[in-house]
Amino acid sequence: MELSQEEEQMLGGKFGSAVQRAMEMLVAVGETYGAERMVKITGAHLVPPDLQFWTTGELARWSRELVMESLEDATCFRVETTINPVIFDPNLLGTFGYPQYFVDEMNQSIAKGMALYESRGVIPAYTCCPFFLFPPRMGEHLAMAETTVQVFINSVYGGRTNREGGPTALASALTGRTPLYGVHLPENRLGQVLVELKDDLDPREFTYADYSALSCYVGGRASGKIPVFKGLPPDISITELLYLARSLPTTGGLLMFHAVGITPEAPTLEAAFGGRKPLDKVVVGREEIRNTFREICSAEDEKINWVLFGCPHATWEQITRVAGALDGKKIHRDVRLILATSDPLRALAQKAGFVDRIQTAGGHVLSGVCSVGFPRRAVPPGYRMGVVVSDSAGAAHLLKVMGVPVWFGSIEQGVKAAIAGRWEAA
Ligand code: F3S
Repeated sequence: MELSQEEEQMLGGKFGSAVQRAMEMLVAVGETYGAERMVKITGAHLVPPDLQFWTTGELARWSRELVMESLEDATCFRVETTINPVIFDPNLLGTFGYPQYFVDEMNQSIAKGMALYESRGVIPAYTCCPFFLFPPRMGEHLAMAETTVQVFINSVYGGRTNREGGPTALASALTGRTPLYGVHLPENRLGQVLVELKDDLDPREFTYADYSALSCYVGGRASGKIPVFKGLPPDISITELLYLARSLPTTGGLLMFHAVGITPEAPTLEAAFGGRKPLDKVVVGREEIRNTFREICSAEDEKINWVLFGCPHATWEQITRVAGALDGKKIHRDVRLILATSDPLRALAQKAGFVDRIQTAGGHVLSGVCSVGFPRRAVPPGYRMGVVVSDSAGAAHLLKVMGVPVWFGSIEQGVKAAIAGRWEAA
């Protein structure tokens, strides 16, 4: 690869060994993918293995060691760097019956990890929707880990990020560079598969969960190619777009989509495909959506234990919907309803009274935590999680893969189940 003088200096160790190793990694990735050079980035987003995935046991120790080694003598990140949520709130898990030794270990591990990243200047928002706080401009190059972040930035903002993993996003944060390949290049951002909706499907009537199921279905059928949605309402909301983005990477490993007349690189169908013919077509109707709902649900027991909202982190629209649905109701004593969002949105929702409304009904509004990983990754020996309800097909899919029984449905169905303590099919 052709490197600038500064990049050569990074590679030569002028800026310390952490930056040197980071540049070595990026050069190796760039050469693997045939990148001719690096490109400067304006932001990076980290997925911290030691905060989000493993906070207890041997895996926690190993992932912390890996991160400490990667950061070693680095004093600060070179670009605006955000970070994913932490695994969960250990103290709340303590009130749910988790043993104190487990809670203490998680607390200590999380505090250490946060201090490590924050000492290098990470923006301590701990959210999987950093783009709502720091929206990129069209054409900006970024290096973002976290799949929903990648799809949303590429598709809805027209920013450019490849599928970064934890280590490459960290390397880019330390160097301010990423190899120029993949969807950083305009020719790799064109649509490839046309997605048409059958007449029996009216997206104006969609719930967020319907958008989520559509995303899940198309992700699984697009075979890794960029889908172009035709016929979505021009006034589609930001939450609906978020749900449309969420499952494309889960079921299809996709990095972006276009929605004609909605996303910035698709003002017309022709522009979305760059004047080329679609390579394939996916047609979705009521039956496909209905089957997707059925396929995602893996629970059999109607009795439920958890309702998890906020994967990705809940928007204002969702917070108000959940609060409205819970007004004057009480959540069943055997059910824990969790809604996860970002710190700023939670603070605003608190000010506006929505947090109190949800908590008065017995729910929990959390910020800075992942609403989905803990049922699998933070369960002490002997503790039984039980059945989970989610309004996100991506979350439900992950939980199912992790062996957690799950029901998937709309916010309204989730709230109804939380109150009754039982899942009722629509
Ligand atoms: Fe966010 Fe955790 Fe879902 S990081 S996207 S809430 S799996």
